[in-house]
Amino acid sequence: MIKPVIFGNWKMNKTMSETIAFINDVESKFADIDLGAIMGIAVPYTQLASAVDKADKIQIAAQNVHHKTSGAFTGEISVGMLVDLGIKYCLTGHSERRTYFSETNEQINEKNKLLLANDIVPIFCFGETEDEYVDGQTEAVVATQLEKGLAGIDGADVRNIIFAYEPVWAIGTGKTATPEIAQNVVKFVRETIAKLVGEEVANVVAIQYGGSMNPGNIKELMSQNDINGGLVGGASLEVSSYLDLYNNMK
Ligand code: PGA
Repeated sequence: MIKPVIFGNWKMNKTMSETIAFINDVESKFADIDLGAIMGIAVPYTQLASAVDKADKIQIAAQNVHHKTSGAFTGEISVGMLVDLGIKYCLTGHSERRTYFSETNEQINEKNKLLLANDIVPIFCFGETEDEYVDGQTEAVVATQLEKGLAGIDGADVRNIIFAYEPVWAIGTGKTATPEIAQNVVKFVRETIAKLVGEEVANVVAIQYGGSMNPGNIKELMSQNDINGGLVGGASLEVSSYLDLYNNMK
């Protein structure tokens, strides 16, 4: 049984005071609950230290990390800086980073390796664009992103990765993949991981769906055989909606 894992992805939203208020509110609601799931949020860099300090049951993720360990990269944040703050999770390969910041599969692979070497769990995102979807390229695109993103990483490390299938056409559009579409691709993801590092690992890794997931569709998506969680943007920004993701997932 794979533990459900839900992360909010706040992207470039919320100030420090809004972040602290959100965490305090959610923590007070979670205080007496045995969650039985990993509930997290990926907050902007400037809030990481305070968020880790305030969070107890909520897991805090970084939204990005640079693929080199240090050096002349103005404006960037290294894995050592995340370790120093006690960060345990970090997004990699998000489609907005691939699209707006030209991140390559090779850089994403370096990030995955660096994070794993530093005991930070990559939440490794991948997924096809609308054109690729319409063109029937979904499996080919996803297979390439997985192969390149996992290159040189052995099964023992892949076991620690959280996978996030996010069809780009469903992100922030309100167009969720149907549970059947999502399940079919996520099943393919598990089969691809099995080909790369073996079935034993593929059967225990958590695979999230992301793309306009919300409290209204989370249950049906998560009831699919291979979907173990969600990466949620818009619907993770309000406390009530975030709590309902948790309440409604089963
Ligand atoms: P969305 O974003 O839930 O707003 O579609 C998901 C994501 O980008 O991870």
